[in-house]
Amino acid sequence: NLYPVLLCGGSGTRLWPLSRKSFPKQFVKLGDGETLFQAAARRMAGPKIMPPLIITNSDFRFIVTEQLAEAGIEAGPILIEPSPRNTAPAILAAVQYLAARDPDAAMLVMPSDQVMPDRDAFVRAVEAGLAAAEDGQIVTFGIKPTRPETGYGWLELAHPPAGDQPAAIPLKRFVEKPAADRAATMLADGRYLWNAGIFLMSVKTALKAFEAHLPDMLAPVKRAVSEAQADLGFLRLAPAPWQLAEEISVDYAIMERSSNLQVVPFDGDWSDLGDWSSVLREGGPNENGVAAHGPVTAIDCEESLLRSEAEGLELVGIGLKDMLVVAMPDAVLVADRSRAQDVKQAVTALKAKG
Ligand code: GDD
Ligand code: MG
Repeated sequence: NLYPVLLCGGSGTRLWPLSRKSFPKQFVKLGDGETLFQAAARRMAGPKIMPPLIITNSDFRFIVTEQLAEAGIEAGPILIEPSPRNTAPAILAAVQYLAARDPDAAMLVMPSDQVMPDRDAFVRAVEAGLAAAEDGQIVTFGIKPTRPETGYGWLELAHPPAGDQPAAIPLKRFVEKPAADRAATMLADGRYLWNAGIFLMSVKTALKAFEAHLPDMLAPVKRAVSEAQADLGFLRLAPAPWQLAEEISVDYAIMERSSNLQVVPFDGDWSDLGDWSSVLREGGPNENGVAAHGPVTAIDCEESLLRSEAEGLELVGIGLKDMLVVAMPDAVLVADRSRAQDVKQAVTALKAKG
């Protein structure tokens, strides 16, 4: 059995002030139509696929069920984290849940904050990785890089892809969120792909990876799962053991340290609307590179995002270049485009102020 495991407990801090702790980007209708979460839940749906296992935190549990119902998607179990501890504990909770019920299963771990419109191409890529996953490999999905992005993981291929059908290729290295100079070197090198953030592996392989690289996380998360409380169709992980799990992402904790990694190159459209700079890039900028949204007037602006989310709040930009401006009724972000990753720091600073 193949279970999609949907991670949707991140708070999308780099999209502050639109994305908030209480309503992060994966649940926001950024374009028209579905939210990113709904699209992700539908991405792998199919007759031979189990309904998605969802792992999120308490704040989002009703948004999740509402958005699934609205989109007519059948959900599998919904695990609730007592508090967000990043992706490694979240994934391990799903692993332990499945290990106790369907130990021979495979899992496709997916973020819920990406744009991937070509479902057929994605399904083909996943199918191309299944044999390697059954063979004890952790299969990643690789995107052809187009810029020296520091917000992604980078995958070094052992050899270039052969043929035009998707196939799994061994990886030499996984580099999470490199510094700018290293990203530029990897882009120029040509042997690297971006990590799409999607992982295919058997439950057994996942358990072994956590045993090898995060042994201290096993016992507390196992307890959090086995002592979980059923509540209105949700499964609430036990808070006391959960607090003992290290707060770390799976990319740093497992992927950078593993040697049984493979990649299936994916050439369909893909983007992670992870920060305002990517929203500008994906948001159909005009011929001057300006993307405007809401009651906005841009005069002589270039390569800038101007977005007013507040009804009746007129936003005027004059002579802006490489700027990100986002106005909400209670907060305004003004940032240099090159600092899009650092919006995270603003959120931390605001939290500290209380
Ligand atoms: N349940 C749960 N709990 N989900 C979480 C948590 C958590 O504590 N933290 C993050 N998530 C979810 C997010 O909602 C998102 O769907 C997914 O996990 C990935 O987290 P991000 O915070 O968006 O990761 P990233 O974008 O910085 O980096 C990852 O994705 C990139 C591609 O989009 C990495 O895998 C990179 O290597 C990759 O390139
Ligand atoms: Mg992301």
